[in-house]
Amino acid sequence: MNEQGKAGGGWTHAADQIKVATGGRGAGPGKPRFKLRTLMVAPLVLGAAVAFATRSAGTVVHDTDGEAITLQAGHPSLAKWRLPSEPPSPDNNAPTADRVALGKMLFFDPRLSRDGNMSCATCHNPMFGWSDGLPVARGFRSEALARATPTVVNTGYNPIQMWDGRKATLEDQAMGPMEAAQEMNMNLPALFKWLNQNGAYREAFQKAYPGQAIDSGTLSKAIAAYERTVVSRDSPFDRWVAGDTTALTPQQVRGFGVFIDPNKGNCSVCHSGANFTDNGFHNLGLASWGENNPDMGRFTQKPIARMKGAFKTPTVREAARTAPYFHDGSAATLADVVEHYAKGGVVKDNLSPNMKALDLTTEEKAALVEFMQALSSPHTAVELPRLPN
Ligand code: HEC
Ligand code: HEC
Repeated sequence: MNEQGKAGGGWTHAADQIKVATGGRGAGPGKPRFKLRTLMVAPLVLGAAVAFATRSAGTVVHDTDGEAITLQAGHPSLAKWRLPSEPPSPDNNAPTADRVALGKMLFFDPRLSRDGNMSCATCHNPMFGWSDGLPVARGFRSEALARATPTVVNTGYNPIQMWDGRKATLEDQAMGPMEAAQEMNMNLPALFKWLNQNGAYREAFQKAYPGQAIDSGTLSKAIAAYERTVVSRDSPFDRWVAGDTTALTPQQVRGFGVFIDPNKGNCSVCHSGANFTDNGFHNLGLASWGENNPDMGRFTQKPIARMKGAFKTPTVREAARTAPYFHDGSAATLADVVEHYAKGGVVKDNLSPNMKALDLTTEEKAALVEFMQALSSPHTAVELPRLPN
């Protein structure tokens, strides 16, 4: 497991990191001593040359992996941003239709909570990008929890779960919120008894896991199988990677360039690969880290000094829908997130070596935000399951 981003960390400052292959802004209509006819034709010719260069060559950026990436729809150098079509499943929990259907019922069923009013979807709500729109989650009887609700979109692609990485798989994770007194606060023996007495649930479990009991094993497997279907891989960005030249605006393409450029945004040093996470842990120097008794994050699971105040890199897919941001909900908008990075963090104690003040223009910051907007899939309605009486 990569605990602090790329091995060796650090930025690369080599002057030859960026090669821009477009004609560029310097191209003008020529010097005054040119004849009138030249003056009239030159801009057209140059304009066409620039347009051709942009279309046929595309800007080349050397990204945070040191690879030459051509910012052009469908270019082979974009291959590492193609998500596999399905998240991997454990051998004993292949995602059959019956398992997914059962898991969906369970995910949306508030009767899995003590008060009968809180389901997984209360906090992981599809209307808020499978989060809750709150700075920190509200748990049992609406008490505020310590951390923000992360989206469950694409968590199936990640080998580690939770802000502090205390769970590995979705199966490991699923019983936690039901058992937690601060969350669904459920009495599990009572829950299994009720599910067994419910004819429709009993039948659904039998179809999904024939011959197996209704227990935390099958319950968590069914929920995990459903979660693996909550994926985002049809965003404008995905379509651009696949070759659709019209899927991104030129500003969004520039924003992607800023995102992956170590001398600009340096974002992909942590938000790497097709799911935009290195599954590592980093201290971003949030203001809350400077308070008394701050949340120690990954350090609570892995007591090594550089993990103090470090949290898991979340995906930025669907982030446009999951405001507010960060584990403490301290950034209201994506523009606020970008400003935090531009400053290089607020509290410098134990700060990740990859957090440095950024040299970004107003236009580059705006382009970054626009690029992140392009990581949202079309908003499709989620068909709610019919819950058995
Ligand atoms: C009260 C709100 C709440 C409820 C209810 C809830 N969650 Fe969560 N969920 C959270 C919070 C908050 C976290 C992050 C906690 C942490 O990392 O310490 C989280 C984390 C997760 C994660 C890890 C995501 C990641 O990227 O690391 C998964 C998966 C998840 N929940 C699934 C579920 C499932 C399945 C249920 C129902 C059985 C559920 N949650 C119920 C608030 C909730
Ligand atoms: C040093 C690694 C690192 C770098 C560099 C980095 N991020 Fe992050 N990013 C993280 C981590 C870790 C978090 C969660 C931190 C927390 O909540 O304490 C995060 C959170 C975010 C979030 C909020 C997501 C959510 O669900 O709350 C967004 C959006 C984001 N980053 C975008 C960016 C952009 C844009 C850049 C470049 C300007 C960038 N990141 C650079 C590691 C990094």
